[in-house]
Amino acid sequence: MAAITLKSVKKNYGKTPVIHGVNVEIEAGEFIVILGPSGCGKSTLLRMIAGLEEVTAGEIHIGDRLVNQVEPRDRGCAMVFQNYALYPHMTVAQNIGYSLKVAGVPRAQRDERVRAVAKSVGLEDYLDRRPGQLSGGQRQRVAMARAMVREPKVFLFDEPFSNLDAKLRVAMRAEVRRLHRDLGVTSVFVTHDQTEAMTLADRLIIMNAGRVEQIGKPSEVYNRPASRFVADFIGSPAMNLIEGMFDEQGHFVYGRGGRLAAEPLNGQRRPGRKLVLGVRPEAVRRTNEQKPGAIPALVEYIEELGAARLIHADASGTRIVAVETENVDIPSGAPVHLEFNDDALHVFSAEDGRRIDAHA
Ligand SMILES: Nc1ncnc2c1ncn2[C@@H]1O[C@H](COP(=O)(O)OP(=O)(O)O)[C@@H](O)[C@H]1O
Ligand SMILES: [Mg+2]
Repeated sequence: MAAITLKSVKKNYGKTPVIHGVNVEIEAGEFIVILGPSGCGKSTLLRMIAGLEEVTAGEIHIGDRLVNQVEPRDRGCAMVFQNYALYPHMTVAQNIGYSLKVAGVPRAQRDERVRAVAKSVGLEDYLDRRPGQLSGGQRQRVAMARAMVREPKVFLFDEPFSNLDAKLRVAMRAEVRRLHRDLGVTSVFVTHDQTEAMTLADRLIIMNAGRVEQIGKPSEVYNRPASRFVADFIGSPAMNLIEGMFDEQGHFVYGRGGRLAAEPLNGQRRPGRKLVLGVRPEAVRRTNEQKPGAIPALVEYIEELGAARLIHADASGTRIVAVETENVDIPSGAPVHLEFNDDALHVFSAEDGRRIDAHA
């Protein structure tokens, strides 16, 4: 296993910049997930680490080696893609062992290694089958085994499970996590799926339009999102975001004249100052009576999830979603009051979207 360091890494395609300067230090043995919407540059970043794309500027180090000019095959990385192309005419064993054969590893040694790797991903009974005789999950396992057989220092995964159905995806996640625990190989896993990212990662790198928005543990990005973008991207249902401005009297006014009094806003109280407040649906409580601090809203509809239900409400023109675990039957249009604790409130700049520390 090896550490990976990216220093001011940039990438242009022609004249178009797509990665704007990324700095990351990945520790040896760490499981890192790069998360972001489609087109934000995740694959480009991963492919630069693998050596499949040239770096326009900056440095990539694997272990203690600057690898900008090192050939992909000499970087010690193994890559698993979404579209793992297996050789259809070869058996599972031949597919897994192919790279060892090309590298001139003697037959007996090769067979032993293939069998050991196949066992670790639960394929020992399928070694003589061809890819066409396997399920999607089994084929994905062959692709993983093929990457593992070379004993890489680094595993790179590019959305490897996005072609699999939901249940299989959960099972494969558990498998990747277990493999990581057993082998301890530094892993960089790209996905646009926040649930997949949160469950796999030691640390997440959240990207937006070619820039890093935040690097942190799953609990850190959930509890202290560094920007409005991260706040909106992480968590399901998504965080409520309330845009508003302080009026001349110092009240925070949102939507069509709704008012909110919250202590974390005190340091920001400047007439004309615009802010975005965030509160997670799981932190919003519904009350039936008017209380100081609670905001009035009208129920729009209730989304039934089985174990919980989401109350979608309109608060002076701003949509607020609240999670409710009790079984309730509230008609559309019913008036409710919504409240949340001051410490559940996240404050973001309306200009650049960065987090503003409360009480600052
Ligand atoms: N070979 C290429 N030539 C030109 N533009 C590219 C190329 N590959 C990717 N891009 C562009 O770079 C940006 C990042 O792409 P990519 O890294 O594939 O995003 P992601 O993997 O996050 O979906 C996108 O705008 C994409 O259109
Ligand atoms: Mg991609």
